[in-house]
Amino acid sequence: MAFDLDTKQFTVTILDSGESFRCHTSQTVLSAMIAMGRRGIPSGCHGGGCGVCKILIRKGTVDTLPLSRAHVTEADEQRGYSLACRTYPLSDIEVEVKGQDRHRLSRRPRYGFV
Ligand code: FES
Repeated sequence: MAFDLDTKQFTVTILDSGESFRCHTSQTVLSAMIAMGRRGIPSGCHGGGCGVCKILIRKGTVDTLPLSRAHVTEADEQRGYSLACRTYPLSDIEVEVKGQDRHRLSRRPRYGFV
């Protein structure tokens, strides 16, 4: 019996926001997040050029398209950093948001009243 990798899905958990969603192996983490209506990973260009969607893979394994060395150095990549718009899950994964806009994820107001 043939096994179709395109039908395989894994769970992506964003540790910062507590959100989780399912992602096909043929779908980037960022596109799956957006398709599921989640917003835990800030994004910009969606093409690997801006670095806004930088993440750290805390648990699990992934495959990636080539990463911009301006945003993810080779040493970063070896430590688990990636770009959500260039990353495909190969297992259930847990990620931390590391892009420059990660401060937007704060769930509590920083000052005064809401
Ligand atoms: S959204 Fe720009 S690098 Fe991913």
